[in-house]
Amino acid sequence: MVIERLVEAARRAQATAYAPYSKFPVGAAVLAEDGRVFPGCNVENSSFGLTVCAERNAVAAAVVAGARPAAVAVVANGPAVAPCGACRQVLAEFAAAMPVILATSTGGDRQVTSLDALLPGAFVFKRP
Ligand code: THU
Repeated sequence: MVIERLVEAARRAQATAYAPYSKFPVGAAVLAEDGRVFPGCNVENSSFGLTVCAERNAVAAAVVAGARPAAVAVVANGPAVAPCGACRQVLAEFAAAMPVILATSTGGDRQVTSLDALLPGAFVFKRP
């Protein structure tokens, strides 16, 4: 099942996270329109503000491979976490109502929501 495939990819990505400062590894996996899956993990930096979240790294991996994000899974330790505001806006670029699956690193619990529920009123650039 595609949800399980995505969650497993996000879990594997979480194991590669570079999070020496927060010690909060996050994994994400983007399902592309063409069925391919692209993992991403958070990559922190000594200059904290340069940290990039797992979701945005997964989106970048998809785009550089010529794919377009259609769904995303996010895995963290403890209670499931939803993408931060910046990542919601980045995901909305590709599919305003994409499914968002929230899972944990170990448990079988899944929350399935959608980006339009998480980010009503996303900014969309329109040339004035
Ligand atoms: N983080 C993500 O990678 N994705 C999220 O959705 C929330 C936060 C990362 C950023 C930082 O490396 C750590 O989690 C703590 O904020």
